Amino acid sequence: MQVNIPLKKTIDNSYNITIDTLPKVHFDTKVAIVTNPKVAGLHLAYLLSKISAKELYIITVPDGEEYKNQQSVDIILESLFNHRFNRKSMLIAFGGGVIGDMTGYVASIYQRGIDFIGIPTTLLSQVDASVGGKTGMNNTYGKNLIGAFHQPKAVYIDPHFLTTLPAREFGAGVAEVVKMAVTFDKDFFEFLEKADLKDEKVLQEAIKKAVQTKADVVAQDEKEHGIRAALNYGHTFGHVIENETKYKHFLHGEAVAIGMVMANELSVELGLMQEDEAQRVDMLLKKYDLPTTYDIKDTSSFYDTFFLDKKSSDSSITFIIPVGLGGVKITDDIDADIILSVLEKFGKN
Ligand SMILES: NC(=O)c1ccc[n+]([C@@H]2O[C@H](COP(=O)([O-])OP(=O)(O)OC[C@H]3O[C@@H](n4cnc5c(N)ncnc54)[C@H](O)[C@@H]3O)[C@@H](O)[C@H]2O)c1
Repeated sequence: MQVNIPLKKTIDNSYNITIDTLPKVHFDTKVAIVTNPKVAGLHLAYLLSKISAKELYIITVPDGEEYKNQQSVDIILESLFNHRFNRKSMLIAFGGGVIGDMTGYVASIYQRGIDFIGIPTTLLSQVDASVGGKTGMNNTYGKNLIGAFHQPKAVYIDPHFLTTLPAREFGAGVAEVVKMAVTFDKDFFEFLEKADLKDEKVLQEAIKKAVQTKADVVAQDEKEHGIRAALNYGHTFGHVIENETKYKHFLHGEAVAIGMVMANELSVELGLMQEDEAQRVDMLLKKYDLPTTYDIKDTSSFYDTFFLDKKSSDSSITFIIPVGLGGVKITDDIDADIILSVLEKFGKN
């Protein structure tokens, strides 16, 4: 005997991402702005001059990736229960990717899901984390292992926030911009080669192109069954580097920058990228003071660590390989010998 539940997909989750000076917006509902003390100290007054609501609350959680965890999620949930938020209430994620991911996650679980809006304040979160509805938190088993796909209602990207961003954090965001250009858009890559991202107008244009690229990818494959995985270019290697250095030495974007250089080397080895194209990516990363070298002490241990990545299975590793500039291939079918020989090259630095 079978009972069928005819669940037709009638919900349109489309949303707009506005890249401009934050407009004045009023919400006729209960709203909580979720942020951390650093972002609040720098920018909350500006935000409050733009955002108003029927009832407005501020919830702060400690700053840092190490607080992207259940305790912080509980702080946010408790505040929502105390203020009697209901299913029509809304959250605003105001901060970098850590705040964005956690706020989105709480929005996805509070009373089985409420709306949230993203107002990202780091370059990385403006070009990447705030777009596409991946939300989550870390636990002792690893990063982002708990979460949900929950799209925001809207995202407001105001480059004004980036004026206070430390240079290294800015560079980490540039790495993710380069990632999108190398894998999807050669013209964008050439734009970045000529561009000076310190110029506000040029930066705004680069943010727009990166967001457009990610939006196009997410629109094709929201839940990462295929092409969305290409956005993990540089991450397979990068995660091992972060793991080996205990997440202390490199910012995520910096590890991704080195990871892209390694993936390029693999691509050159496979005949999918020219040596000079790999060099151009290297030069672009260096232009923003991103690291491009890493001394692999033990190649077989580095190789084994690939299998801890949640995108790898027990027996295969998924690699995102650039194809020239502007193309990409997702494969889990590369000979271990080839990978190890590429890793050996980084062992000789
Ligand atoms: N959901 C996704 O698709 C996605 C994609 C990429 C990364 N991520 C996640 O994003 C997180 C990394 O994001 P991040 O790089 O923004 O890190 P982050 O949120 O930790 O921010 C970096 C630092 O900058 C501070 N900061 C934020 N805005 C600032 C400003 N305007 N001026 C000065 N300082 C400011 C933060 O308080 C923090 O100390 C990771 O947890 C990663 O897993 C998610």
